[in-house]
Amino acid sequence: MMTRQENETLCRVGPDTPMGRTMRRYWHPIATSAQLPSPDCAPLRTKLLGENFVVFRDSDGKVGVLDEGCPHRGVSLALGRVEEGGLRCLYHGWKFNVEGKLLETPNHPDPRICDVIKAKAYPVREVSGLIWAYIGDAAKEPPFRRYAFDEVPASNRVIHRIDVQANYLQLAEGGVDSSHVGILHTNQVRPSWRAMRQSSDQGVLDAAVMEDNAPSLEIEDTPFGYHYAAIRQSMAGGGKRNVRVTPFILPTLRVIPATFYYFNVFETPMDDVSTATYIVTHSDRPLVDEEITKVVGLDDTRFYSRSECAFTATWAERLGQDRASMNQSWTGLWGIQREDAVMALAAGPILDRTKEHLVAADQAVVRLRRRLMDAVKLVESGHAPPGVNLTDLTKVLARDQDVAADVPWQDLAREHQEFAAAAE
Ligand code: FES
Ligand SMILES: [Fe+2]
Repeated sequence: MMTRQENETLCRVGPDTPMGRTMRRYWHPIATSAQLPSPDCAPLRTKLLGENFVVFRDSDGKVGVLDEGCPHRGVSLALGRVEEGGLRCLYHGWKFNVEGKLLETPNHPDPRICDVIKAKAYPVREVSGLIWAYIGDAAKEPPFRRYAFDEVPASNRVIHRIDVQANYLQLAEGGVDSSHVGILHTNQVRPSWRAMRQSSDQGVLDAAVMEDNAPSLEIEDTPFGYHYAAIRQSMAGGGKRNVRVTPFILPTLRVIPATFYYFNVFETPMDDVSTATYIVTHSDRPLVDEEITKVVGLDDTRFYSRSECAFTATWAERLGQDRASMNQSWTGLWGIQREDAVMALAAGPILDRTKEHLVAADQAVVRLRRRLMDAVKLVESGHAPPGVNLTDLTKVLARDQDVAADVPWQDLAREHQEFAAAAE
C-alpha cells in the first residue's frame, strides 16, 4: 500500500514538484506531425507537464514550441496568424519565429526591442510522425533517442494521440498490467468468447490470444527502466508455456506485443489530471490505418476525433458503455485503447492508492512505481535519472512466444541483456 505522500510524489508533474523535475529531464512527445499537417497551418494549443504551449509549423515546415502566452501582454499565441516565417500574435501583431526570436512589433516602431525580448522557445525534434520537445533545464538537455519504430518506413507505422482526463500513472499502470489483458480485452483476445458471440468484429484483431488470466510475473530492472515476463499456460499445449515480455522505458513508454505488430505507448502527462497517450503502432510490414484505428477502438466518432485527439466520453453517457451490447461485447465497449482509457477514467482523475488491495498479479505495477520513485530520488539528490543518456533504444522490443518450459524468459529478450551489458 502506498502512503498519500508517495502517491502525490508519483502523480504531480508541475514544474515545482519532484516528479515534474524528474520528467523534465527527458524529451517528450508534445504533438503528432498530423496535428500540424502543413506549413502555416493552424497552431496547436497544448499542455505538457502542467505548462501551456503553442506548437506551430512555419512557412518552411519547421516546427516551433513556445510558451503559450505572448511576451507582450500574455494573450495566447494559439490564436495567432501563422505567416511568412513566423507566428504573429493577434492582439498587437508581435511576430516570433520557431526559435522564439521577435521579428516585428507593429505597435512599437523601434526595432531594437527585437534584440531584447524573446519568446521562450524549446528544443524541438520531428521524427517518425511525432513532434518532441525538451522543456527542462537547457544545461541538462539529454541526447535524443531512437526507438524501434523509428527504424521502419512510414508505411509500416500508424500513430494515434488520445487525450484522456486522468492522471498519467493510472494509464501507465494499465500498460504494465498483463493480467487485465485477457479479461478487460476479452473481446479481442479470448478465443472462447469470440467463438461464442459470432460478432462482426471477430477477426479484426490478433493482438494476442489467451485464456489463462492468472499469469505468473517475473521482473528485472534494466538500464532503461525494467522489463517483465507474463508467463501463462500455452494455448498450444504440449507442455509449452506462453511468455509475453513487456519493456517499460522510463519515463512513460511501454512496448506491447501483438501478433503482427507492436504498440509503443507513451503516457505523456499534460498536467496532473490529463494525459496525452501516443500510440505508435509499427510492424515489419505495411499497416492499414483504418484497421489499426478499429483495433484500438478509436473509430467511434461519438467519443474521439482524429483531428481533436480528445477522448470525450463522460459519465453522462456511462463513459460510452453500451450495456445492451454486452452479450456481444464483454465490456460494452469496443477496442483496446478505448477500454484502457475508460478504465483510467473510471478510477477518477487521480487514483487514491492508499485504498488499494494489491495481489501478486500487480507486481509489474508495483515495479513501475518503484522505478519512477528511483528516478525521482536520483534527480532530487542531484543525479541523472535512469536511462536518460541512452540514445539507441531500437533493440528494446516486446515478445509474445510459446517456448519450452525450461527456456528462461530472458532468452526471448536477449537484446535487452546485451543492451544492459553495454550500458554498464
Ligand atoms: S499581447 Fe501579443 S502582441 Fe500584444
Ligand atoms: Fe489494456
